[in-house]
Amino acid sequence: MGDKIRVAVIGCGGMGRHHVEVVQGMDGFEVAALCDVSAEALEKIGDQHQIPARYEDCEKMFDEVSPDIAAVATQTRGHCGPVVAALRRGISVLCEKPIAIDLAEADQMVEAGRASGARLAINQQNHLNPGIRKARELVAQGLIGEVVLVRGRNKAGRKSGNEFMEMGTHVTDMMLRFGSMPQWCAGTVYAQGRLAGPQDIMEAKEMSPRDRDSGLVMGERALAHYGFAGGVLGEIHFIDYPKTMGANYGVDLLGTEGQLAVRASGHVGQNLWYLPRPMEGQPADLGDWQAMDLSDMGAESPIALMYRGLAEAAAGVEPPGSGEEGRWAFEMIMAIYQSHREGGRRVELPLADRRHPLETWRAQG
Ligand SMILES: NC(=O)c1ccc[n+]([C@@H]2O[C@H](COP(=O)([O-])OP(=O)(O)OC[C@H]3O[C@@H](n4cnc5c(N)ncnc54)[C@H](O)[C@@H]3O)[C@@H](O)[C@H]2O)c1
Repeated sequence: MGDKIRVAVIGCGGMGRHHVEVVQGMDGFEVAALCDVSAEALEKIGDQHQIPARYEDCEKMFDEVSPDIAAVATQTRGHCGPVVAALRRGISVLCEKPIAIDLAEADQMVEAGRASGARLAINQQNHLNPGIRKARELVAQGLIGEVVLVRGRNKAGRKSGNEFMEMGTHVTDMMLRFGSMPQWCAGTVYAQGRLAGPQDIMEAKEMSPRDRDSGLVMGERALAHYGFAGGVLGEIHFIDYPKTMGANYGVDLLGTEGQLAVRASGHVGQNLWYLPRPMEGQPADLGDWQAMDLSDMGAESPIALMYRGLAEAAAGVEPPGSGEEGRWAFEMIMAIYQSHREGGRRVELPLADRRHPLETWRAQG
């Protein structure tokens, strides 16, 4: 019992509950304590999952419980404070996505980990999705030749502004698994059928009251291109399609010898397909996609693998989905706004200005 990795969960809402359930289902891990500013939320999850140690102040919890890992599952505006407080105490963190409300906060979080040596990982759990892991192996083995295009596919069912903050970093994180770090972004955002302007900037809750409080957003449709090292192109669309499309959500890889398609939702035991030809071909050939065998990828859930990766990261080695990778995934999203504001031109990454592009645009008109 004493050798278990002890996890403290901060934020006992929908996702906090999921963290508790995942950790309680893992060998070698236990939930050591819970924290929420709402006594009601604490009592509900604490009673249901029989966790007696409950706190309303995360710093007090860190000092009294000294967990091995802090899982930060507050809404995005509430990530930076608890993450930095944990990292400064040498406690490793699995923080929910997107990493932060703006790049300045993301920088503070990554820096706090670097300064203390504690590890930060961002729970874009598709990072360790079996299809993504297998596709990386197959690409490394040369199955599809040279990768020339990485296409991120959105889940839809939201206006692009909200989708950027809700699902966007999951998609950009999956793209980053195949495209290294991007060197530039060119983005375009539409509102009400025209190019979006500063008058279209609003709070996420104003755009969609059912979504979370994730800061400033803008627009309904957006697209972006990215340049990865060596001339590999990235492309992503957020098209305000009215229905959620789980089957669309993932990445497509176009290679010189063949193609791979990973879908992040649905049955994770079978979510990778291979097309044994490159771009050319008639629509009639589209029946030749092949389901790929993922049975050697293990049965543990991607979030459980995120915990294991974090707990097992050796000194000096970043965990899977590290704070830096999470910041890149978020930076790819912020860059769309920055590029759009500059007339859709290519903006260099990382962005020089770390403030939220919509905050500065709104302030300057
Ligand atoms: N990785 C995924 O697939 C996935 C899925 C869903 C949500 N999320 C992310 O999880 C996060 C939480 O989303 P949610 O839907 O669970 O939100 P939620 O509103 O249901 O829960 C947040 C909880 O945090 C508590 N809280 C707020 N400030 C706090 C503080 N300072 N200290 C302690 N507790 C505090 C609130 O009282 C609330 O109970 C978001 O960042 C969201 O994007 C990730």
